[in-house]
Amino acid sequence: MQNHSIKGINFKGRRVLLRVDFNVPVDADKNITDDTRMRESMPTINKLLSDGAAIIIMAHFGRPKGGFDPELSLLPVAKHLEEMIGRPVIFTQELLGPKVSQMAHNLKDGEVMLLENIRFYPGETKGDVQLAEQLASLGDCYINDAFGAAHREHSSTAVIDRFFPNDKYYGFLMEQEVVNLQKLMENPARPFTAIIGGSKISSKIDVLRNLITKVDNMIIVGGMRYTFTKALGGKIGNSIHEDDKIDTAIELMKEMDERGVKYYMPIDCLVADKFSNDANIQLVKGDEIPDNWEAMDCGPKSSELFHDVIMHSKTILWNGPAGVFELPNFAKGTYELARSVAAAGKQGAFTAIGGGDSVAAVKQMGLADQMSYVSTGGGAMLEYLEGKTLPGIKAFDL
Ligand code: 3PG
Repeated sequence: MQNHSIKGINFKGRRVLLRVDFNVPVDADKNITDDTRMRESMPTINKLLSDGAAIIIMAHFGRPKGGFDPELSLLPVAKHLEEMIGRPVIFTQELLGPKVSQMAHNLKDGEVMLLENIRFYPGETKGDVQLAEQLASLGDCYINDAFGAAHREHSSTAVIDRFFPNDKYYGFLMEQEVVNLQKLMENPARPFTAIIGGSKISSKIDVLRNLITKVDNMIIVGGMRYTFTKALGGKIGNSIHEDDKIDTAIELMKEMDERGVKYYMPIDCLVADKFSNDANIQLVKGDEIPDNWEAMDCGPKSSELFHDVIMHSKTILWNGPAGVFELPNFAKGTYELARSVAAAGKQGAFTAIGGGDSVAAVKQMGLADQMSYVSTGGGAMLEYLEGKTLPGIKAFDL
C-alpha cells in the first residue's frame, strides 16, 4: 500500500500540483485580514521549496457564479504569498489552455505558480472529470493540503487524484487536521466535553447526534439552546428557536439521558429588547425569558458552571459561540468559554477549537497558541465530526 504522506519523499525536480485552501477573509480594499490558512500551509510549501520542486498551486476564493469575477480574483492572495515565501509567484490570470500549460511546463525547480481562482471554471464545483484531467496534465504529482475544502467533492479536491494513482499525497496541514480529529473521535482522554453553540440546532443536528455517542459531557450554548428550552417547557420570549426541531431536541436529550451523557445549558442569560448592541439589557434565568425580550448571551453563573465542567475535562472540543458574539455587549459568554478552555489546556487537557466565531474569539483574546489544535476548516471539521468520510481525504489512507 502506498504511503501518501509527503514525509520522507523528495520532490526535487518534480512539478507538484498542490491544492490548498487560501479562502481567506479580506477587507474592502482586498487586504487579507487573517492569513492563518496561508500560514498553516507554509510547512508543506516550504518543504517542497527546500526539496527543489516546482509548485503549481490550485486554490479557490469565495463562491463565484458563472466564470470570471474580478472581485474574487486570487491576485491579492498571490501578492501576499510572495511576501510569505520571499520569492516571486507567477500568477496565471488566463484560463486553462495552451498558454497556462506552457507556463506550467516551463517552470523551473524552486519556482511557484498560482492558478487563478479554480472556481472560475463551472466544472470545478461539479467535480467535472475533464477539468480534473486538464489540471492533472499541468503537473506530475498531486498533493492535497486543502483541509478547509475537504468536504467538497470538487475537481481539484476529490477527482484529480485519480490521475495520479501512484503519485498522490496529503500535505502537512491536512495530516495535522486529520490526526487531531482522529484523536478526538477515536481515542479521547476522558472526561471528554463537547461545547456546541451557534444560532440554529438544524445546522448542528448531525454533529450532536454523532458526538453524543462519544462524549461524557455536552455543553449546549448559543441560540440553538432555546429550541431545547422550549422543548423542556421553559419561557423563551422572542429568542431564536426552531419549532420544527423541538421533537429532535427531545430525542437528543432522551438519547443523552440513556447514554449517561451529562448535558449543560445556560442557567442565566442576558436578554435584550431588540437585536442591537445598544438595546436595553437584563440578566434573567435561562428558562424565564420575559415576553418581547430575546436571549443574546449566557450570563455569569452559566460561565461559572461551564468553567467547572471544562476544568474537570481531559478532552475539550468547542465549536460555536455562546451568544451574539459579533455584538460587543453580547460577546462575554463566548470570551469566558475561550478563557476556560485555555485554562483547562494549561493543566494538560487536549483542546480543539473549530468554527468561525469560536476561532475568532480565541484569536481576539490571544489564546490561539494555548489551544492544542485550532482547525482551519469550518464546514470540513463539522462534517468530520458528523462522522462522514470527507471526499478530499478518501483517496488517502488517513
Ligand atoms: C471554507 O471557507 O469553509 C472553505 O474554503 C470552503 O468554502 P465553501 O464553503 O465555499 O466551499
